[in-house]
Amino acid sequence: MCGKNGMDEFRYIDRTSTNAEKYVLREKLFHTREVQPLWVADMDIATPVCVINAVQKRLEHPILGYEIMSDSAYEAQIDWMRHHHGFEMKREWLSYSPSVVASIGCAIRAFSEEGDEVIVMDPVYPLFYSMVKENNRELIIHPLKQDDSGIYRFDLERLGAQITSKTKLLLFCSPHNPIGRVWSRSELLALGELCLEHGIRIISDEIHSDIVYAPNKHIPLASLSSAFLENTVTLMGPGKTFNMAGFSISTVCIASQTLREMFEAECKRVHWGDGALLSHVAFEAAYREGDGWYQKLLGHLSDHAQRIAEALFATPIRYTKPEATYLAWLDCREMELGDRELREFFVHKAGLGLSPGLSFGKEGSGFMRLNFAVASEQLDEALEKLCGALDGL
Ligand SMILES: Cc1ncc(COP(=O)(O)O)c(C=O)c1O
Repeated sequence: MCGKNGMDEFRYIDRTSTNAEKYVLREKLFHTREVQPLWVADMDIATPVCVINAVQKRLEHPILGYEIMSDSAYEAQIDWMRHHHGFEMKREWLSYSPSVVASIGCAIRAFSEEGDEVIVMDPVYPLFYSMVKENNRELIIHPLKQDDSGIYRFDLERLGAQITSKTKLLLFCSPHNPIGRVWSRSELLALGELCLEHGIRIISDEIHSDIVYAPNKHIPLASLSSAFLENTVTLMGPGKTFNMAGFSISTVCIASQTLREMFEAECKRVHWGDGALLSHVAFEAAYREGDGWYQKLLGHLSDHAQRIAEALFATPIRYTKPEATYLAWLDCREMELGDRELREFFVHKAGLGLSPGLSFGKEGSGFMRLNFAVASEQLDEALEKLCGALDGL
């Protein structure tokens, strides 16, 4: 277990002297540096001490030549997945990937041909759309709609009708960014069955699987049945959980030998490699020793999710605490601003740099996404600015 200094670990860390995307790209995205950046999905929270220590220890050895990712690093993730998600993975199913998005691209090329169709649910992490388009596949966009209780759902009947003989893949986000849904067992079962029925393989991006708030429970899609296991490529990694996306390390889990060979062949074409040695040790330390820090992190983030609800309660912004992720999906439609005006309101009136809902697809129109994985003082300041700006509307 790592980290002994309690909430100090979640103190504000000034990143302005680093190349943090969130800060460096402010000018380009918001045309001003005078915004509090609450966009890209990483945390302004120190990476756990056990990870930093492991990297420092490795640097005591003066040779930094080629290394492979060790079995014990994979075993650390296998243990984590068994313990936290009840998913029993085998070592041979797993391989290294420099990035979940890179794995998505590789899987699209491995399991479909140019011109084939790939299902993507809208709204979703923007790179889902671009990976399909950049690889010359056709997008089938399935809109996620809120039910009467405001819960986002996919519509299996409609999805079934969208499928054609050219539909080869479903690009699935579980838990879902940006809406923060944790898909239930019955939803996963129904979706997985539909895909099996139509011979559609599933790429399940589960990068957000650890940031889940009780009583919700993430269920790895592949863990639900042996047929699902054979039909699913699961993408996961420590980047979100331990705030170590800068290490460029994730894994791909493919139980089917046939699919694994197809994926590996595609990896060979781009000389994918086995990653950087410092990432290997960081990965292993995080999964092996990071649980104590992680449990405290969940409490900290859950408290933040609640603070937002309290601050926005009497405003025109509708917000429901997410079931997963540190991303608040703010429904600003009652403000009755166009998408461009909404963005300008947040930047120029509130001084906040958020992700515009429209960047996640058409269904995101009228929404903004706020990253609340910051220090509490930072969040309070942001909410104060937002409420002040709303008062002035
Ligand atoms: C759903 C989802 N997939 C993938 C990524 C990025 O993963 P990676 O940095 O490993 O490419 C993100 C980052 O926000 C994400 O939200």
